Amino acid sequence: MLTAYEIIRKKRDGGILSSQEIDHVVREFTAGRLPEYQVSSLLMAIFFKGMTDEETFDLTRSMMATGTTVDLSDVQGCKADKHSTGGVGDKISLILAPLAAACGIKVPMVSGRGLGHTGGTIDKLESIPGFRTKLATAEYKDILRKIGVVMSAQSDDLVPADRKLYGLRDVTATVESIPLISSSIMSKKLSEGVDALVLDVKVGNGAFMKYRGDARELASKMVQVGRAYGKKVAAYLTDMNQPLGREIGNWNEVVESLRVLRGESSEGDLLTLTTTLAAEMLSLCSGESFSSSKEKIKHAIDSGAGYNKFLEMVRAQDGEIRVVEDPSKYKRPEFSYEIKAAESGFVTTMDTFKVGMASVKLGAGRLKIGDRVDPLAGITVLKKIGDKVSVGDVLAIAYSNEKERTMSAVKDIASAYSLSQEEPEKPELIKERIA
Ligand code: URA
Repeated sequence: MLTAYEIIRKKRDGGILSSQEIDHVVREFTAGRLPEYQVSSLLMAIFFKGMTDEETFDLTRSMMATGTTVDLSDVQGCKADKHSTGGVGDKISLILAPLAAACGIKVPMVSGRGLGHTGGTIDKLESIPGFRTKLATAEYKDILRKIGVVMSAQSDDLVPADRKLYGLRDVTATVESIPLISSSIMSKKLSEGVDALVLDVKVGNGAFMKYRGDARELASKMVQVGRAYGKKVAAYLTDMNQPLGREIGNWNEVVESLRVLRGESSEGDLLTLTTTLAAEMLSLCSGESFSSSKEKIKHAIDSGAGYNKFLEMVRAQDGEIRVVEDPSKYKRPEFSYEIKAAESGFVTTMDTFKVGMASVKLGAGRLKIGDRVDPLAGITVLKKIGDKVSVGDVLAIAYSNEKERTMSAVKDIASAYSLSQEEPEKPELIKERIA
């Protein structure tokens, strides 16, 4: 067996790692016997040199082997989940999970925290006072059985290797790698015990995959791995050249999700993408057509069934229902700053990575392992691509509880906008379905 040093060197020089070598690194790192500096180096070597399909499959399997697979065979019904590769303002899970559950499928959702410039569902849910995201397996299954939806953080025994690698990648600029994203997502999803899985692969300047070709490769890899494990899987390539919806942060994203669930949002990218992905989940489970599944999802919004499911889940996970029912009762951020247009024209592009990083700097995400997330920090995006603006119009509003942070993020947000006199084409929201 090669030493860790030799394994790093082999990958650095473009070699192909054997399944034993991959397994050794994953096992030893998870057990705390391999230092972070060596694993960081290996991650960086993988980032630059990539991995073959076989290496990616081996990595996924080794990661899964560090934990246990949740056995959901005693929970009746089709179990389905959705996972996004990560975006800015991507709060789809918060809306989609209760909607799908309201339509009769079981949604056992294990979500992540913010990663790099992107937000995480667990950080958002934890902005609801009292909401417990750490659940023992028995309770997790109990909530799933009774309510149809449960949203939790990765338990200690669900792919512990990913928890450690994810944290390390987050702070070592090694997130944007097809084999690392693929193995991270699929190891968790395959350990979750679901029957069906919808993958939302983001593409654009705010995604880990900047180009459609890379996003397609990532999507195909994940679909292939899922199929190899006997799951029903479909992937969508969706736009991340601007934030999704209007809110970026944590509590503000919960509030925006509540508006969609209450039927107060009758149009927009957030609603369109959520209903599409939720309908795909239903359709994978039931075999019914996509269009009739979409009708069911729309009905779950109109009837309030999805919103009620969300409330039921919040209650079951000890979240404070008072602020969910009336967000005006929530505390407010200390500082806010309006970013105004210095010129007139149409918004032509948004540097979504920069906007996401600005949100992290405001306190909505982490700059290093262990940083505390501020539930109130974030950004409201008032102007998006294609919108016409006049001098002085508010483009966005930044919020935080620290003045210095607010002011530094403001500069980044202002410079993330490009305006021109010509009306641009809006980016295509749903680019491709891969199944
Ligand atoms: N989401 C994950 O779970 N893992 C990644 O690596 C990226 C997005």
